[in-house]
Formats: sequence, structure tokens, C-alpha cells
Amino acid sequence: MAVHPPPGAALGLTPYERPSGVHPPLDFAGYRSTALRAPRRPLVLLPHRLTEITGPLLGAERVTPADADLTAQHEDEPQGQRIIVSGRVLDSGGRPVPDTLIEVWQPNAAGRYRHSVDDHPAPLDPNFTGVGRCLTDAHGRYRFVTIRPGSYPWRNHPNAWRPAHIHFSLFGRAFTQRLVTQMYFPGDPLFFQDPIFNSVPEAARDRMICRFDLGLTVPERALGFAWDIVLRGRGATAFEQPDGQW
Ligand SMILES: [Fe+2]
Repeated sequence: MAVHPPPGAALGLTPYERPSGVHPPLDFAGYRSTALRAPRRPLVLLPHRLTEITGPLLGAERVTPADADLTAQHEDEPQGQRIIVSGRVLDSGGRPVPDTLIEVWQPNAAGRYRHSVDDHPAPLDPNFTGVGRCLTDAHGRYRFVTIRPGSYPWRNHPNAWRPAHIHFSLFGRAFTQRLVTQMYFPGDPLFFQDPIFNSVPEAARDRMICRFDLGLTVPERALGFAWDIVLRGRGATAFEQPDGQW
């Protein structure tokens, strides 16, 4: 029987790996909207053509240092607790992954997204958009300045509230290598009732929680939280479906 190499192999692309015990299932009973978007038929393997394997081409000049400071995108500063979120992107061998585009989005300190479908009756902050991006440096490191996000209700089940979180998207060398996940804060009292957090296998849940790091704190300015993202392997960070937005 002929053995076909995985799509993209001839171009040196590593096949996508989804190890068991790390990532959430595509359909999770307690997380209602997964029932609508989880595939019901076997997945179709799409060949990697030029479009998929050559983008995104960003160019270093398109991502500016200011993009990583969510507290400095408006005339005044946003309300809330100023925080630094920083860490490294690592591969399965613990090697840093440089030049990776990281995009983040989050609600404001009151738990409200600046988004047309967010009707949570909490105040919008005219000085907070809630989106940022940066490229990892030569050591795989990223760093964002932002405010601590609030929790918000989301009607998934009676009295459902999301633990505070920041959404992360990572692009590798190509559009087909986009990974999406959420970062949580230590000690959140809402973990027990959140089906998104609990859809991740138990052993991998702690990897989604950042840790307070006094070394990242800017004295008299902002608290610091450290969070590394591991792309693959047994210690990988859990990644969700890219269309899981909430
Ligand atoms: Fe969210």
C-alpha cells in the first residue's frame, strides 16, 4: 500500500498534532455552542496550497510596540487594575519560538467587550478597546500591558459566569498554523462552574492559568503575571477551535 506524506511535508511543514489528554473535545456537553459547530462528519484533509502556506506575511514594521500596550490606545487610560502579562512561546523541547504573532482580546474591567453582540449591561470604557498584538522576540518572549479583565455572564446555563480570561491567538508560519486559547488568573472562584475551562482535560487545566510574578511587576505601576505557551507535546497548552470566541 502506498504511503502518502502528509500535506505540506514536501515544504518542510510539520503535520498538525492533536495529542490526547491536552485539548478539549470539539463537542463538550456542558458547553452548549459546541453542539452547533462541532463537525458531525469525518474531517476532510485539505491540501496545503500556496495561499495556506505563505501567509500571513506581516513584515516587522506592521506590528509596532504600541500595539502591545492596551492601556495606551486612547486619549486617557482605561479604568481597572493595570497588569503586565508576559511569557514565552515554546516548542515541545522547551525551545523558544521567535517571530510568532500573538493577538489578544479581552473585556474591560467591568466584564464588557467592545463588540456589537455583547449586550451585558456593564459600562463600556471609552479608553479601552481590548485588543492587542505583538511578535515574540528572539527568545520567544512576548509582553502585554493591559488591565485585568472582569468576569461576565454568558447564558450558557443558569447563572453562568466566565472566569476572568484573556483570549490568545498565535500564528505560526502560515494561516493553517493558527492556534487559539484562553489564559486565566490564579484562584478564580468561577472555575468550578465554567464548562469552557472544564472541557479541557483536568491534567492540562493548570497550564491555562498564569501565575503572579513579582519580577514582572512594575513598581508603583502594574502587577505582573507570567504565562508560557507550549505549542505541542505532553506539556502542551490546550487549544480550542478557532471559532470559539467566548
Ligand atoms: Fe471571552
